[in-house]
Amino acid sequence: MIFKKINIAIIGLGYVGLPLAVEFAKKFNVIGYDYDKNRVKDLNQNYDKNHDVSLSKIIKANNLKFTTDINYLKDCNVYIITVPTPIFKNKKPNLNLIKQACKTISKFIKKNDVIILESTVYPGVTEEVIAPFIEKNSDLKFNKDFFLGYSPERINPNDKKNNLTNIIKITSGSNRSTAHFVDNLYKSIIKVGTKKVSSIRIAEAAKVIENTQRDINIAFMNELVLIFNKLNLNTSEVLNAASTKWNFLNFTPGLVGGHCIGVDPYYLSYKSKIHGYSPTIINAGRKINDNFPKYIANKAINEMKKVKSNSSFKFLIMGISFKENCNDFRNSKSIELFKILKKRGIKTDCFDPLVNSKELKLSMGINLIPKLKKNYYDCIIISVKHKKFKIMGEEKIKQYLNDKGKLFDVKNLFKFQTSNISF
Ligand SMILES: NC(=O)c1ccc[n+]([C@@H]2O[C@H](COP(=O)([O-])OP(=O)(O)OC[C@H]3O[C@@H](n4cnc5c(N)ncnc54)[C@H](O)[C@@H]3O)[C@@H](O)[C@H]2O)c1
Repeated sequence: MIFKKINIAIIGLGYVGLPLAVEFAKKFNVIGYDYDKNRVKDLNQNYDKNHDVSLSKIIKANNLKFTTDINYLKDCNVYIITVPTPIFKNKKPNLNLIKQACKTISKFIKKNDVIILESTVYPGVTEEVIAPFIEKNSDLKFNKDFFLGYSPERINPNDKKNNLTNIIKITSGSNRSTAHFVDNLYKSIIKVGTKKVSSIRIAEAAKVIENTQRDINIAFMNELVLIFNKLNLNTSEVLNAASTKWNFLNFTPGLVGGHCIGVDPYYLSYKSKIHGYSPTIINAGRKINDNFPKYIANKAINEMKKVKSNSSFKFLIMGISFKENCNDFRNSKSIELFKILKKRGIKTDCFDPLVNSKELKLSMGINLIPKLKKNYYDCIIISVKHKKFKIMGEEKIKQYLNDKGKLFDVKNLFKFQTSNISF
């Protein structure tokens, strides 16, 4: 793969695409294309609503053009796709955004160009979906006229320590020379190096099992909660004791939302089923984690019923984002918890200093409480482990509870014995 000059197009400027575009722009000309006008407008004003890439980094990226105009892609020869890979209501993979990105690319792709997918998918998507799609929508032949690579993103949003350039990047290509090209491309920006694997499918599989493994481990913790609740044992104390063994894995129970951990296992499960095996552990893990908001709601209501009548409960959920220390509330299980409580007739407020209240209202119709009232709530559920809550401190949070009020510290933000409702 020899290009006189590498011109990169990044398709999709979200959590994955933006840092990648900024990093590549230190070495190459980069077109950052996103079809979301507001996102591009923000980026052109050096503003990242995800608060993931610092303003100064965006400003410094001189070789980077953010645009919604596909015509800027015409001089590119490497197209990197970083669009979301959600699931449909029936939990099957929704590859429409990948296909849409390919449609855009197919308008401009030329002989010898390379498309690299970064989105999380099941093994096979790059070669079984992207290759035929491009062939159908252009007059180019796969692995003769155009080539493919897969290099999964492994970042953890808003994690300042494990970021794009200091996580080993898995690379792969549709033939030997493309694999070599893709590997060298990423080596130019990844400080800690790359791991080139023998095929695109291996790389796709490696990424999807990373997230599936995490989902299963959390599901096991959540299942322990279900068991120990029946046995009247405190799960946190059991885990705390077990964790003193050197090889005990330190996972904790909790809500699994977002658009990665709670979604990606369905991709693997789908592909496996097509090939005649319906996974047992993966599907069971998903089922347990998907039911966990209901379990938390029931547990909190039942505990509160012991001290007060159901009809007048006032609940507060602290933490609406899908995970700690980030503002992303897509597929947040705290929101599901809120909906369950509301359906059960419980007046529930939501508080999250990180989530943008206007955006939440606009997309979910949910109001955030800007200021908490003292001596007010019957039950406060801390569902997300934000550092800001830790800083507020347990005593301050308990001031918002009324006389008989109880704190349900789902994530054990504070010491495991101190919350009134615990697992
Ligand atoms: N967020 C993470 O931490 C993370 C980590 C590793 C992998 N991933 C995977 O990376 C992929 C992208 O995730 P993300 O979190 O960056 O998503 P995101 O929602 O933050 O960003 C995606 C961007 O792509 C744009 N987009 C969607 N379809 C487009 C199209 N056809 N053309 C142009 N722009 C388009 C959207 O407008 C959006 O700005 C997913 O497969 C995800 O599972 C995400």
